[in-house]
Amino acid sequence: MTEADSHLRATADAYDAVAALYSELFRDALDDQPLDRASLAVFAELVRNAGGGRVAELGCGPGHVTAHLQNLGLDVFGTDLSPVMIDLARKAYPGLRFDVGSMDALDLADGELAGIVSWYSVIHTPPQELPRYFSEFRRVLAPGGHLLLAFFESEGDPVTVFDHKVTPAYRWPVGDLAALARRAGFTEVGRVLREPHETERFRHGRLLMRTQ
Ligand SMILES: C[S@@+](CC[C@H](N)C(=O)[O-])C[C@H]1O[C@@H](n2cnc3c(N)ncnc32)[C@H](O)[C@@H]1O
Repeated sequence: MTEADSHLRATADAYDAVAALYSELFRDALDDQPLDRASLAVFAELVRNAGGGRVAELGCGPGHVTAHLQNLGLDVFGTDLSPVMIDLARKAYPGLRFDVGSMDALDLADGELAGIVSWYSVIHTPPQELPRYFSEFRRVLAPGGHLLLAFFESEGDPVTVFDHKVTPAYRWPVGDLAALARRAGFTEVGRVLREPHETERFRHGRLLMRTQ
């Protein structure tokens, strides 16, 4: 097993173990976050205006963001490493499709997708692995396809590992993450920074990119 494989195994096991609690805690997370809903709404509008098509939420966890994207009029499905998360998502949203899989090796044809949302799912990916992930996103997106990334921002520090409650994660300088995506063939559309509220530790970043 390679180092990358054992990292994926450890991430899946960690999320399997907390999936029910995670789902309970975060199911309604978008309700009191207008800036987050706005980022998702902008993404959905851009995808629809570009002609629509299939959208993947990669690292969908218990599926509440996937369901929100469907409510915004998108033809969306979810994929996650954690079989327990996918089981919960299927039960909570029986009308939606959810698959177990890793976002660095998608079972999708070149150019098949109109959009990808990675909502706090690349946060666990070791930085040296991320260029490969972004190349895979680029491969499955059609020309003019959109990518929305949600992550923790590093507030002036270089990319930094932190003690995320489930399994270690990384905070990124928004500019470095944008540069990495540009090197994989994306163009930046825009970025949003949201300061933490009382129960949160870090600044949040949203980065909207598109393919040529
Ligand atoms: C912080 S949770 C976010 C879940 C959901 N998007 C949300 O906003 O609540 C991170 C999720 O990403 C998944 N994940 C991490 N690495 C992944 C990978 N390589 N492929 C697919 N899913 C992955 C984890 O299993 C976990 O469910």
